[in-house]
Amino acid sequence: MESKSLQTARRMRALEPSATLAMAARASAMAASGIDVIDLSVGEPDFPTPPHICQAGDEAIRTGKTRYTPAAGIPALRKAVADDYSRRSGLSVTPAQVVVSNGAKHSLHNVFTAVLDEGDEVIVPTPYWVSYAELIKLAGAVPVLVETRIDDNFKLSPEALRAAITPRTRMLLLCSPSNPTGVVYSAAELGALADVAIEHDLAVVSDEIYDQLVYDGRESVSFPTLRPGLADRTVVVAGVSKTYSMTGWRIGWTIAPEPLSKAIGNLQSQETSNPCSISQHAAVAALTGPQDCVAEMLKAFERRRDLVAGRLSALPGIRLPEIGGAFYAFFDIREPLSRMKADGIATSMQWCEALLERHHVALVAGSAFGAEGHVRMSFAASEEKLAAGVDRIATFLGVG
Ligand SMILES: Cc1ncc(COP(=O)(O)O)c(C=O)c1O
Repeated sequence: MESKSLQTARRMRALEPSATLAMAARASAMAASGIDVIDLSVGEPDFPTPPHICQAGDEAIRTGKTRYTPAAGIPALRKAVADDYSRRSGLSVTPAQVVVSNGAKHSLHNVFTAVLDEGDEVIVPTPYWVSYAELIKLAGAVPVLVETRIDDNFKLSPEALRAAITPRTRMLLLCSPSNPTGVVYSAAELGALADVAIEHDLAVVSDEIYDQLVYDGRESVSFPTLRPGLADRTVVVAGVSKTYSMTGWRIGWTIAPEPLSKAIGNLQSQETSNPCSISQHAAVAALTGPQDCVAEMLKAFERRRDLVAGRLSALPGIRLPEIGGAFYAFFDIREPLSRMKADGIATSMQWCEALLERHHVALVAGSAFGAEGHVRMSFAASEEKLAAGVDRIATFLGVG
């Protein structure tokens, strides 16, 4: 008789694997077999980690900083995060409010696990970053997806937020600048959402991992700054992955009111202990060292944004919102899709699969972000690759 002893738990059966990582894995398997693939699937800066940050990691190894650290992070990094955030936001945050984790994804998992009870509802505007819904479900809570439309620049309105609130609503999740849309909310737009959150006593998780990657001279606004007292109900999530091109170092953090920070630290002490000691020292160098590397990467991303937005919006039937930040173009393919049915292509997933198979460009289907009829292109790639990628898309659409 076949044993069921290692059958997975119910919570695992509902868990979807990350669609972006799955697409990237397919693209790299094709590349390994010698195919010239242009992989624009994954949200990862293509720049090397700046040398002074790598040197700090190196130095940490050479000087024996290779042991357990306090679970919530080394004091120097918690202070560097608190100081950096306080300086940029104008709020006064203490190191005790900061918990450093194994990437911002882990920080999000910590917050959901520490705050949400079984059956609590979390309002998540769509299109949403792929991991939100799965991490919320893992915590036993319920993601309530609220659609936003390209005609509204993919922004959640206070009216739509209000309409989604039920007696079980516990939390609102916001991401600005947004993955996957690249849209940046204005202070007024966020303020209007903050008013609804206050009125209904909601917690807010503000994913600000792209806060320094904003274009056209925009200033990014941190959510808790928008109304007095908002910091008492908000957790800010951020990290070094995107700003300093440090995705593999796995350092992210939460900034939360002190009692919740303590709870998150306790959770982490049982789950994973500390994040990598070497990476923590490198992250201190990132936050306290010279910042021209950030400005340089930003300039390169802005040029790529101009290239991709200009070329994609010139393609017939393709629409995209104004990309104010992050490094994604999230475009509407409903019009071309409607013409491709005879070719067996009716969904964004089939569109992406056909593009990959026939023209060797990897994008991610909008369905993975809760927005069928769209696709996401990461422009964290060289201008040559991006131009060639758009050329291949044009050929796929029959206009190249
Ligand atoms: C919106 C958003 N939040 C969080 C993360 C996770 O970042 P990290 O690599 O630090 O876990 C990502 C990474 O893609 C992201 O796009």
